[in-house]
Order: sequence, then structure tokens, then C-alpha cells
Amino acid sequence: MADLRIAVLPGDGVGPEVTSAGLELLHVIARDGGHRVVAGEHPIGWAGMRDGLEPLPARTLAACRSADAVLLGAVGDPSADRLPPVERPVQGLLQLRQELGCYANLRPVRVSSGLVRYSAVRPDICRGTDILIVRELGGGIYYGEPRGLDEDVGRAWNTLEYDTGEIERIARVAFGLAAERRGQLTSVDKANVLEVSRLWRSTVESLADDYPSVATEHMLVDRAALEVVVRPDRFDVILTANLFGDILSDGAAALAGSLGPLGSASLGGETDLYEPVHGSAPDIAGSGVANPLGAIASVGLMLEHTFGLTAEARRLEAAVDRTLAAGHRTPDLSPASDAPTPLPPMDTVSFTAAVTAELTSLAR
Ligand code: IPM
Ligand code: MN
Repeated sequence: MADLRIAVLPGDGVGPEVTSAGLELLHVIARDGGHRVVAGEHPIGWAGMRDGLEPLPARTLAACRSADAVLLGAVGDPSADRLPPVERPVQGLLQLRQELGCYANLRPVRVSSGLVRYSAVRPDICRGTDILIVRELGGGIYYGEPRGLDEDVGRAWNTLEYDTGEIERIARVAFGLAAERRGQLTSVDKANVLEVSRLWRSTVESLADDYPSVATEHMLVDRAALEVVVRPDRFDVILTANLFGDILSDGAAALAGSLGPLGSASLGGETDLYEPVHGSAPDIAGSGVANPLGAIASVGLMLEHTFGLTAEARRLEAAVDRTLAAGHRTPDLSPASDAPTPLPPMDTVSFTAAVTAELTSLAR
């Protein structure tokens, strides 16, 4: 019996719709276990900027610092596209990750049997996929200085830099997780071109002896982009840098048929941060059809990693799997045109209710 103190940052686009779905499931799980959810809502991104606030208001950051976990929806709005990149809503998210110091971004890609029919990848290839992408989130080219854009001259520059300490701390997270899973670590880099990747590779190599149960391999990122979709079963844990992880995780979403079902955890900082991998999806925002599974998966990761409620996390996962296996879905998940007549897609609220019903029946 505990208080689960959550800062909820619904943000922009579909963010509010999916965070409220995630929270609904969190409430159900907490109630069953006799826990209390103490959740406060705070603005981030455009949601605050349209009221004259900063992308990451100081009060929002303070609330995140004093919570046990943050559940974030999405950040970004087309109305802000005319602003220079450093003033856009997305800065709120990048600042939040950095201020909290969450350097370890866990992005699981699991294709449950109910998801197979929506996959962009052949059933015999995607079935059984269970990959954990461990993305470095606190550094790399996202934050490197100097950076700049001189439109008059027509020149722009960014800096990719990692030091040994930054590589070691993320690598240890990945090794540790691989040891608890199937004992395989694939470190992804671009060591044939980049000095940073050469340091990355030698640093990962130097830690391998500390994890005798883990088999370590290195793979170039272009090759990894292909392997992830043609031989996903060869991967257990993928360790990679910030930008490569961003790209590979969207690519790997092809296995699950959509970015919609994927959640993430960002750990290692002051407060753990949980967010769906999909963005604000302005094209469907407000129409009530957003896929809540990314937010729900993020809540599952929160139960496991922040609150140590592993059995509850597994139960939530099972409820999602059963909902999908029953053929329920949101419209982002579309079966192949020659598939047997699928059930019509559901809206966010009905789909969330279907997951809740499965969860409740599992609890009995
Ligand atoms: C993600 C997103 C973010 C990122 C954007 C919104 C800054 O694409 O979480 O994958 O690049 O990290
Ligand atoms: Mn991304």
C-alpha cells in the first residue's frame, strides 16, 4: 500500500487523450492493490505557450522534481512551426529530459500475437519480436555545442560528442537489462566513419568482462536499420546513442504496425519520465481516435521501474495482449487488405474501456 505520486504532463495534440487513458488504467491497477494515485496536471509545450508560458514552465519542472514519476503525453504543435527551433514546444521536452537527468531511455518493441496482423512486416518474421532499445537520452548530437544556423550565409552546424563516462553509464544500464533478459547485447554505432563511435565501441567492449552472462556484438547503424525489420529475432537488447536510437525506434515500430502501441521509460535522473514513443499527431488530435496503448505501455513501465509493481505491470501487459487478440484496435492499426474481415476500429475511449475490462477480469 503506497501513494503513487505522479506529475501528469498531457502536452499537445493527442497527448491529453492518451494520458487520460493511461491514468485511467493506473487508477484501476492502483485501486486493486490498495494504492493511492496522487496525480497533478501541469503544462508543457504549446499547451503552456499559448497561455504565454515557457515551453517548460518552472512550476512544471518543480512539480516533476518532487513527484515519483512523470507521465507525459506529447509535445509539438503546427502553430509553432514558424518559430525558430530553439523556441519551439519541443524544447520543453528536451529541457525536461535534461533537467531531470534521465539519460537512459528504454523503448521496448514487443509484437504480441494480436499485433501480428497489423505488422508492416511478414508474420513469420515479426511474430514473437521482443526487443528492448536502450537509447542514450542525455547527450550526443541533440545537446552538443557548438550548434547554430546562419541562414544568411547558408551554413548550419551541430556537434556530436560523448565522453567515456556518458557511454559507460548507459552501457551499464543496457548490460544489466540484457543480463536479466536473454543475455544478448547489440551495440549500434557508426564506427566506420565517426570517432565518437570508435570511443563508444571501445568503451562498451571494456565493460563486457563485468557481464559474463551477456554476449556482446557491435553493429553499424545502417545495417541495424535493416536487420531490425528483416531479422528482429536476432535482437534482445540494442544499445545506442541518442539520434540513432530515435531513428531505430521509429523503424522498429514497423514491426508493431504503428508507433501507436509503443511506450518508453527514461530513467537514471531525479525523477523517472514515461512517455509514449509517438508524437503529438496533430492530424488526428481532438478526433478521439488516438491509440492509447503507447501511454498504457508507459504506465506499465512506470509500475515496473519506479514502483516495483512488477506483477501489476505484467497484468496490464496481459490485458493489452488480450484486448488486441480479441481484434480490438484503434484506426492506426490496419490489417492487410486481404486479411479476414477485421472488427471495425474503435475510438480511444471505447478501446481503453476494452483494456480496462480485460484488466478487471484478470484481477478476479
Ligand atoms: C522521440 C521524439 C523526440 C526525440 C522529439 C519530439 C524531440 O521523436 O521521443 O522519439 O527526438 O527524442
Ligand atoms: Mn522519435
